[in-house]
Amino acid sequence: MSTQNTVLITGATSGIGEALLQQYLANGYRVIACGRNKEKLTQYEQDNSNVIALAFDITDSEQIHQAASKLAEIERIDILLLNAGDCRYIDDVKAFDGQLFADVIATNLQSLGYLLQYFLPKVGAGGQVVFVSSSATLLPFPRAEAYGASKAGIDYLANSLRIDLAAQNIAVTLVHPGFIKTPLTDKNDFPMPFLLSSQQASSRIYNGVKAKKSYLHFPKRLTLLMKLLALLPDAVWQKLILKSEK
Ligand SMILES: NC(=O)c1ccc[n+]([C@@H]2O[C@H](COP(=O)([O-])OP(=O)(O)OC[C@H]3O[C@@H](n4cnc5c(N)ncnc54)[C@H](OP(=O)(O)O)[C@@H]3O)[C@@H](O)[C@H]2O)c1
Repeated sequence: MSTQNTVLITGATSGIGEALLQQYLANGYRVIACGRNKEKLTQYEQDNSNVIALAFDITDSEQIHQAASKLAEIERIDILLLNAGDCRYIDDVKAFDGQLFADVIATNLQSLGYLLQYFLPKVGAGGQVVFVSSSATLLPFPRAEAYGASKAGIDYLANSLRIDLAAQNIAVTLVHPGFIKTPLTDKNDFPMPFLLSSQQASSRIYNGVKAKKSYLHFPKRLTLLMKLLALLPDAVWQKLILKSEK
């Protein structure tokens, strides 16, 4: 029986997930790398025999089912790291884009139900499930109705799951990153204070997950400030954020 630890990472083809893949490989893990970008996934497998690549769309439960069935010989996943996600904004609130809202919820939140359905059975006692949410859930931000709602849903899901999995000795880690430089944030047209690299984000997640922390947030100079601002009356925050937009 293999003693090598196995981590499954969704969104391993870009940004934070790609940095996590490299960090887990460098630390001797077998990595089940997931994403839609088949070219990149094939390259990972060619570059490192410790990579098992699974290409699927996380919004499609049948594709996830098919992908999971390819893991028949993998007895155990030690860390299920649910990182894949997308960010799209509601640019014209009066012409509310219901389809965009549904798509973001499907990618960031609904997908997690399918991923848990098909992969959680492989996570045994002593294992861990990690959810990459966002520090955006600490405060309401303009245009973030869809993204923020999807990530707030993840927070509840993770915190509730932690209670239910405690009896099975499976830990749950919820991650609230601040701004991280990746293709996802390269599209942003607003200032992103205390921006970290994807390698900095990956190190914080890797170390926090290893320590089995329930909750990770970084960089603290941003997230602690946000937590402080969240204590203010709604009207004060609303004034501040509207002023910052001018
Ligand atoms: N960057 C930040 O500042 C920041 C801050 C807070 C939270 N986060 C969260 O961190 C996570 C990673 O973000 P990132 O910044 O690293 O973004 P990124 O560079 O755009 O990477 C997103 C990853 O998710 C995968 N993905 C997206 N939609 C998918 C789908 N339908 N099916 C399968 N895979 C899908 C992509 O894979 P393919 O391209 O192969 O489909 C890609 O590997 C996200 O959940 C994001 O919300 C990021």
